[in-house]
Amino acid sequence: MSVQTILWNGTPIAFLPGDTIASALSRAGITEFGLRQTALPAAIFCGIGQCQNCLVSIEGIGVAEACLTLCDAAQSVRSLSDHRLTESAHD
Ligand code: FES
Repeated sequence: MSVQTILWNGTPIAFLPGDTIASALSRAGITEFGLRQTALPAAIFCGIGQCQNCLVSIEGIGVAEACLTLCDAAQSVRSLSDHRLTESAHD
């Protein structure tokens, strides 16, 4: 059985069937998903889609909650702080 991965800021991260992006990242030891506009770390807080503290940028989807979004093979996910840097580089 091959290991399926998502790309987190360009780095492959393994996930298990049924994993959310947040659970896959957490299993890989990644508990901060970038910086929010307040400069505080984006991370899991409520885990149920209410606090918006875990927002990430998902290619083809846009900004979404990492705690609610299921992993999909080869999905490219980026931290919003990294995304903002990328966006500003194109401005
Ligand atoms: S942790 Fe609260 S919305 Fe994801």
